[in-house]
Parts: sequence; C-alpha cells; structure tokens
Amino acid sequence: MILYFSGTGNSLSAARFLARETGDTAVHVVDLTAHCGTCRGIQDKVIGFVFPVYFGDLPDPVREFAEYTRFAPSTYFYAVATCGSTPGNALYNLQEILERKRCHLSYGRAVPMIANSTATWKKGVTYDLSRLETARKKLVSIATAVRARTVNTDEVKRSLTGSLMAMQLVRHMGKRRFAISVDIEACTGCGICERLCPMHNITIKNGKARAGDQCVSCMACAHWCPSGGILVHGHAISREDQYHHPDIEVKDLFLR
Ligand SMILES: Cc1cc2nc3c(=O)[nH]c(=O)nc-3n(C[C@H](O)[C@H](O)[C@H](O)COP(=O)(O)O)c2cc1C
Repeated sequence: MILYFSGTGNSLSAARFLARETGDTAVHVVDLTAHCGTCRGIQDKVIGFVFPVYFGDLPDPVREFAEYTRFAPSTYFYAVATCGSTPGNALYNLQEILERKRCHLSYGRAVPMIANSTATWKKGVTYDLSRLETARKKLVSIATAVRARTVNTDEVKRSLTGSLMAMQLVRHMGKRRFAISVDIEACTGCGICERLCPMHNITIKNGKARAGDQCVSCMACAHWCPSGGILVHGHAISREDQYHHPDIEVKDLFLR
C-alpha cells in the first residue's frame, strides 16, 4: 500500500506513478484514517509513504498516521518526500517514528518538484515545469529500487536547515506566514475548499467558506480556489500564480 498526502498534487502524482510501476495501490492517509477509525493496523508486506515536506518535516497527518498505526516489523517500508528543494529532516523523522515501533525505513528519497509555497510570498511566479521531468526520472529509479526491495537510506539524514525549522519559534512564525482566512467578498461559496481540505477545516456556512483552526498549511484551498476567496497571510494567490501538478485535477484531491 502507498500512503500519500497531497495539497497541490505533486505527491499524489508521485504516489500514482509509483503505484502503477510497482503494482500497488495509492491511498490518501486521511481517507484511510476516516475509514479505519481507531482499530488501525496495516499488515502489508510493502508500505510506501509519499508526502510533501512542510518546514523541513512531515505533514502532521502523516506523522500522526505513522505514530498511531500498528505495522508489522517485517514490512519493507520506503518513503518519498516531494519538496521544493530539500527534505530537511522529513525522511529522518519518519525513520525515527518507525524505529520507535521496531520497524525500519529501508529506503528513502527526496524528490524536488515545484515549491507550492513560493506563491504565498511572491507575485508573478514562474514555475519551471521541466523540474517535473527530472522528478519523473528520479521516480523511475525509485520504482526500480522498490521493486527490488533495495535498502538505501543515504538520503535519510538530518540537516541543519531541517533542525533550524524544527525550532518552536521558527515553526510558529512559519505557521503564521501560511495562515489562511476567507475574503467574504470574493468567496462564491462554491465548496471546492470544503471538499479539498484534508483537515475538514473549511466549511461552507450561509454560502461562504469558513476556516477553522486545524489548518496544516497544505495550501490546497488557496491554490485551487477559483475566485481568490482564500487568503494566505491576508493575500489571495492570483490565478496566474496558482500551482497544481499538471497531471492532477481538483476532483482527484477531493476526500472520499
Ligand atoms: C507550508 C509549506 C512548507 C513547505 N516547506 C518546504 C520545505 O521546508 N522544504 C522544501 O523543499 N519545500 C517545502 N515546501 C514545498 C512543498 O514541499 C512542495 O511544493 C511539495 O511538492 C508539495 O506537494 P503537494 O503538491 O503534494 O502538496 C513547503 C510547502 C508548504 C505549503
């Protein structure tokens, strides 16, 4: 089973590719959490984690899923961290969680794709989509390694930037920088954000979106909003600056 988390489709596209190439199934961790309830145990012989890097770390839902799910120690675990540039401590932290459960991350790779965070602080972003071709090549080699049950943790390591970003103050500032809110004038109440939000943090009330306090900063709502109704740190991301992986459609990210 391939467990993925994704806001703008990079990780979903990677998970789907790996599922196809390895004959596996890709499942959203949030969908699985919703359907498994509390009796969570996965006994698959091969488990892959595919997720975006947030602040040099795992997304909270992936960390919580790994922490609270029972796995078989004999499972072959691998992880793919999609990122803008560097995985920070994300792969290392997943390895630590698994080790505490007497499981082992056998293989881990970072796959730089497109940074979906750039548009939250910069206008007129030029996305270099040729990076996705480089990413695809790396995914081909990852699929080959997974099929061969390769053990290689060369990229599973701690980094200075990852450790700096893990500091409470830096994390707090980062979260504030990515805080979302709703522009009531611009919101049309279309409900896309409500269906997308992996935390069920956005609801439509009286024809307008309302954001709660459970945001994990995936930026799905801001990048997919068709009307500029979602603000990040008080600013909407313009249509030109919105990003999503070209192979992924918004409905692919709707929660079940
Ligand atoms: C809140 C936030 C924090 C991020 N932090 C990092 C980071 O520390 N390092 C990095 O290389 N990319 C970072 N990124 C970029 C994403 O990891 C990258 O765009 C990822 O591929 C997005 O995956 P998705 O399309 O599946 O959501 C961050 C993005 C967001 C929204």
